[in-house]
Amino acid sequence: MKPRDRLRIAMQKSGRLTEPALDLLNRCGLTFRQSRDKLFCFGEGEPVDLLLVRDDDIPGLIAQGVCDLGIVGRNVLHEFQGTAGEGATALTEWRPLGFGRCRLSIAVPQERDYREPADLASQRIATSYPGLLNAWLREKQVAATVITLAGSVEIAPRLGTADAICDLVQSGGTLVANQLREADVLLQSEAVLAGPQTLPADERGDMIELLLKRLDGVIQVRE
Ligand code: PRP
Ligand code: ZN
Ligand code: MG
Repeated sequence: MKPRDRLRIAMQKSGRLTEPALDLLNRCGLTFRQSRDKLFCFGEGEPVDLLLVRDDDIPGLIAQGVCDLGIVGRNVLHEFQGTAGEGATALTEWRPLGFGRCRLSIAVPQERDYREPADLASQRIATSYPGLLNAWLREKQVAATVITLAGSVEIAPRLGTADAICDLVQSGGTLVANQLREADVLLQSEAVLAGPQTLPADERGDMIELLLKRLDGVIQVRE
């Protein structure tokens, strides 16, 4: 890959993390030529550009070196870390960002009993996070069938294609609307700044250090 002298940050194109992520970068003194349909936003002051992509693609883009950093949910980062094969670039959570808080949870139909993970034995569980769910099931020593869906996971029990689900819960509104209830929590999540474990040994590394310093200032002021 060609060496780059400008830093590139990947973030969600449109979704719950988009506005707060842009706001945070602005507070760190980064401004971009606004062109929301363009998936590439050129940084005006500092040599930092933005790439607007699907959140699920962010860890892979960092691992491939297409981007240097990403603002992404901890759930997406951990799912990637769990499923990326050996030899893949190790990614790390550089900072928790304090917004986009949610949890990855097991939910079951409202009328169903649930006391412990063992109650899921031989059940079908629909999820967009097969890596995290499989790891949790292994840890709890429960044998269940994991059904991977890209979205609208909450509808699966009603369609009869799953007995339970494992998906993100924020307000709980989607669960209620689909007659489900939260039964167990796998992971507490929020937006994080993700990047490779080792910083690039050029100007981009210096720029990242500067950005982290500003970020710490901004986050401290907000708390
Ligand atoms: C997320 C998540 C849940 C829902 C939870 O989906 O997958 O479905 O939000 O939020 P709530 O508890 O406040 O109802 P989202 O609509 O963000 O999109 P996605 O599933 O397509 O990523
Ligand atoms: Zn998503
Ligand atoms: Mg959803």
